[in-house]
Amino acid sequence: EMSELGNYRHFMQKEIHEQPRALIDTLQDAVMGEQLSSAIFGFEAENVFAQIDAVAILACGTSFHAGSVAAYWLEAIAGIPCRAEVASEYRYRISVPNPRALVVTLSQSGETADTLAALSHAVSLGHEHTLSICNVPESALVRASKLRFLTRAGPEIGVASTKAFTTQLAALFLLTMVIAKQRGRLTSEDETKYIHALRALPAEVQRVLTLEPAIAQWAERFADKQHALFLGRGMHYPIAMEGALKLKEISYIHAEAYPAGELKHGPLALVDKDMPVVAIAPNDALLEKLKSNLQEVRARGGELYVFADFDTQIANSDGVHVLQVANNAGWLSPILHTIPLQLLSYHAALQKGTDVDKPRNLAKSVTVE
Ligand code: G6P
Repeated sequence: EMSELGNYRHFMQKEIHEQPRALIDTLQDAVMGEQLSSAIFGFEAENVFAQIDAVAILACGTSFHAGSVAAYWLEAIAGIPCRAEVASEYRYRISVPNPRALVVTLSQSGETADTLAALSHAVSLGHEHTLSICNVPESALVRASKLRFLTRAGPEIGVASTKAFTTQLAALFLLTMVIAKQRGRLTSEDETKYIHALRALPAEVQRVLTLEPAIAQWAERFADKQHALFLGRGMHYPIAMEGALKLKEISYIHAEAYPAGELKHGPLALVDKDMPVVAIAPNDALLEKLKSNLQEVRARGGELYVFADFDTQIANSDGVHVLQVANNAGWLSPILHTIPLQLLSYHAALQKGTDVDKPRNLAKSVTVE
């Protein structure tokens, strides 16, 4: 195993840096031409997508966070009701089945027990339209689903998922576009624009990765902390959840994510100089609201670490640390904003000297309940 690491210290670091390549491989077939084809989800996809009136996404852990971003995309871009749910909850609750829903299961391994059971549960309730987005061909999940899309992240060894997550997001964006197109919600100008944005994405991710040394410096200030708060709004809220999960998983620092608008409803009570607050600050319609949320944190002595888009006019000042991540990438922004959070948790864990690739008590694939 060691020889495969090359110049990297851990598989997680290597896999973080493999993301541009993983995205190229995952997107290649889909964005070769100027038009998207539903056939990337299987030859029956067009027929299936013509029958659906809702989407239900089921997954666990990091995969659930990818699904949660996609729920924002599918409702906003494709105009189809969508809900993402933790597989272990769905499988045991009494739900209202909608036979016209597309049930999407997301999984790196395709062997997660709860996700497999959630799919069987959905099928037992009469759901026939099933799609699996998975990183392992011929896994149990892929075999049990009618439609499939394989992410091409390559083998992921680090327990904390990185490249599987961003390639799932890329696949889910393709799904959103294909469903939007079929529903007459995607103009051909937008189709071309999004295809070009996807082609440019791997190079954008590569550029964000150059922030690593600066993020490593920030991480030094996290190593002695007990708690951290992650803030994001809209489609970046699940990215804040993913950032918090990563920090917990590998550095054992307790971290929580909140949609920034909820600050006043609880987490502000926890803010003091010992709890760093990480904020995702895309240059979007909610920027001004986010800025006032950040001022509230600052007014309580909270130390802010802001990952901002260019042109957000959030300046470095006492207690406010800002790194500029990217130009506003529109709908694809969550993918770019994931990268610095992965690097932050990786370097915080390095500082603490934890077993980054095999964190205590966790398994890469949870094949038992
Ligand atoms: C475990 C792993 C996580 C992963 C989750 C779901 O908890 O440690 O990194 O996100 O399982 O795994 P899956 O293979 O279904 O995506």
